[in-house]
Amino acid sequence: PIIRLADYRPSDYLIDRVELDVRLHPTETRITATLALRPNPKGEAGAPLVLDGDELTLLALDLDGQPPAPGAVEVQPRALVLHQPPRRPFTLAIETQVNPSANTKLMGLYRSGGVYCTQCEADGFRRITYFLDRPDVMAVYTTRIEADLEEAPVLLGNGNPGQAGPAGEGRHYAVWHDPHPKPAYLFALVGGRLGRVATRFTTMEGRDVEIAVYVEPGKEPRAPYALDAVARSMAWDETAFGRPYDLDVFNVVAVSDFNMGAMENKGLNIFNDKYVLASPDTATDADYANIEAIIAHEYFHNWSGNRVTCRDWFQLCLKEGLTVFRDQEFSSDARSRPVHRIAEVRTLRARQFPEDAGPLAHPVRPQAYREINNFYTATVYEKGAEIVRMLRTLLGPGAFRGGMDRYFAACDGTAATVEDFLAAFAAESGRDLAAFARWYAQAGTPTVAVSGRHDPAARTYTLAFRQSLPTVVTEAASGAAPLPLVIPVALGLVDPGGGAVAGRSDRVRDGVFVLEAEEDSLVFTDVDAAPVPSLFRGFSAPVKVAHALTPAERLALLSHDSDPFNRWQAAQSLGLEAILSRVRAGAPQAEEAGPRGEALSRALAAFLDAEALADPAFAALVLTLPGDQEAAQEIGTEVDPDAIHRARQTLRTHLGRDLAARLAALREALAEPPGAPFSPDAASAGRRALRNVALDLLAAADPGLGTRLAVAQVEAAATMTDRLAALAVLTLLPGEARERALAGFAEAYRDEPLVLDKWFAIQAAIPEPGTVARVRGLMEHPAFALGNPNRVRSLIGSFSLNNPTQFHRPDGAGYDLVAEAVRHLDGKNPQVAARLLTAFNNWRMVEAGRRQKAEEALRAVAAVTGLSPDVSDIVGRSLGTP
Ligand code: ARG
Ligand code: ZN
Repeated sequence: PIIRLADYRPSDYLIDRVELDVRLHPTETRITATLALRPNPKGEAGAPLVLDGDELTLLALDLDGQPPAPGAVEVQPRALVLHQPPRRPFTLAIETQVNPSANTKLMGLYRSGGVYCTQCEADGFRRITYFLDRPDVMAVYTTRIEADLEEAPVLLGNGNPGQAGPAGEGRHYAVWHDPHPKPAYLFALVGGRLGRVATRFTTMEGRDVEIAVYVEPGKEPRAPYALDAVARSMAWDETAFGRPYDLDVFNVVAVSDFNMGAMENKGLNIFNDKYVLASPDTATDADYANIEAIIAHEYFHNWSGNRVTCRDWFQLCLKEGLTVFRDQEFSSDARSRPVHRIAEVRTLRARQFPEDAGPLAHPVRPQAYREINNFYTATVYEKGAEIVRMLRTLLGPGAFRGGMDRYFAACDGTAATVEDFLAAFAAESGRDLAAFARWYAQAGTPTVAVSGRHDPAARTYTLAFRQSLPTVVTEAASGAAPLPLVIPVALGLVDPGGGAVAGRSDRVRDGVFVLEAEEDSLVFTDVDAAPVPSLFRGFSAPVKVAHALTPAERLALLSHDSDPFNRWQAAQSLGLEAILSRVRAGAPQAEEAGPRGEALSRALAAFLDAEALADPAFAALVLTLPGDQEAAQEIGTEVDPDAIHRARQTLRTHLGRDLAARLAALREALAEPPGAPFSPDAASAGRRALRNVALDLLAAADPGLGTRLAVAQVEAAATMTDRLAALAVLTLLPGEARERALAGFAEAYRDEPLVLDKWFAIQAAIPEPGTVARVRGLMEHPAFALGNPNRVRSLIGSFSLNNPTQFHRPDGAGYDLVAEAVRHLDGKNPQVAARLLTAFNNWRMVEAGRRQKAEEALRAVAAVTGLSPDVSDIVGRSLGTP
């Protein structure tokens, strides 16, 4: 069934208190839920009480201490209905039984590596007990957990710990009480044999908090980085937003089977262990950065998500977009702000722009959904964060912070909406944000076309802007004709020679011009010579910019812009144009670099000479060409992934040759002295990144040299970052050395599933026709398991997302591989299967032959009987036949 935002109405009943008694057992876990209910004054009086339930066995039921009258209760497959509930407060006691070992969906209560854990967002609590499983029903929970002492010596719940002790027959119990009312999706419990690392933190209010991270026994040495990230997150939220922690304990538990990244359950965050465990020998610098960001993200949810939650799931961006914005700011403060901004934009362009351009497009606040778990998307998260960022740019940091304070004060303890959020900023700033709010409702990536004209006689420079918005007609969007958006354009004028430009315009405040109409133009006075405009500095809005610049103008920006983001963007644009001009000329492998390729080489050479060592992390990004997918997006229709890939590879070869001496020198200059202590900090990571980008380009230019260097680095590497980077370079160089290195790596890390995931992922990305067979072979590898989401994402997910030439093989074998995996997985884990299928997202963009194969593969999935709602939703929308 389709659920629409317009149909929202409050619950007819509320639940004030929940007492849970959970007796853990591998196959027969019993849960007694005692619910204090009452009619909702905002609901319909006398309506039946419909409690959600999913795959539950009902053992007993009591209404105010009595068995209900015969016929008063109806047990349906997905609900428990009480036909005439009392018209006053009443108590229901419900006993259910579930089988955690058989729960392969990893929603509700399940077992991961012998550890009992839960995942309730979005609608998993109904798989534990019958409940009003919707975020606007908020209750105070007390949970008693009982388990076998041998099997589960550690028992954790939400809130603060209470009584604990033996429960007879080798069992024990622990009681947890959470004083903060919360929706059911924030419920969690954990029971198992777990190792622990802990520290203390004193909040700005003087509360003494015990922070602990729980991991598989023996993995404790890999937990301190995450633990420290929690403490740093707590401190940061106090300074940056004035938000203190509000319980006596904060627990993080790492589990190895998890559908997503992590979950912000109140006081008990549960994590995919990939985002907790770190050691120099097993985790890359990217892993460390992700761990820090995701620990922060889940912690920040304590205010943006838990203290203020969502009224309904249409408001998901209210907590997710805002919390992504907050974790981005945290990482920017902890690391390099410009480097982090570039990383954010790369993610947005690689994941959100394609989503917004395909059949799965939806507004940041969708208007309808069939399966909410399919809306935990790049649009809701990443574009949602960009909207919050634009709000700050428009209002300025002071009013933004004031608005946030108002929002938290006004909505604390409530289930809120996007309107509530914007109202706080409107009140603080005195501005009308009605037009700005369109960002939440209109899907599709806007394009802003800009042209500049210098008038030497009048000494003026005029910039003309025009925004164009796609009309997106999908089930989740309204399809209405789009209205102009409020677009903050951070900009400046750059002198091509590196001097100063005097131009002024009173419509630019604090470096920002606000484009509100479909068309507008901006006049700068006192401009003597034609400048180069630097537009959308820091990527001030999630738009595509159509702005024709000559290679010389792009070079001027790369050399002289004061905005690091736009310096990087200038190099990216040159690279993209060089790739596109080869593809469009039908000569992806042309021998000559071409005028743009040459301009890029010269620019990068000058850049490396001037400042490569000043900021290696930034230099590594400048040296990295835009990916195949970005070029495909730019072309838009009848895409030939092979042509794009060849064009990009050839350009890499040119760059590698032109820059060879400089790259070799850089590797020397950045070499780590033997025995140097490891540090995951951003500066050290930046040096490793630049060294490895240099290796990659050198190998593109000279495969023989590349093989020798990479083999040596795989063997001698002191960190997983260096070892994996070298192995990835080798995977692009077919031959015996590659196979030997891959086999050696697998042997060395045979007992490290998270490291083998990296090994699966780089092999799945090999751009050669043999890869489909290789991936099929790896699916039989003893370390692979279709039941583990990390394994599936590493192998099949990496193949579909990181290997455009093989996923889009002209014979359809790549599509078939993924479609087949989706069909097998759907019976086990529909959420992960549905996520995998989103790789077909832009199937309409490829050329006709491939397009037909992709459609056949999608239709084959659609034809399967008994498809999950999750997969059938994605396949239906992808084919445009919901
Ligand atoms: N709220 C989690 C986060 O921090 C995501 C959980 C989503 N899980 C799911 N099954 N839909 O982003
Ligand atoms: Zn989140």
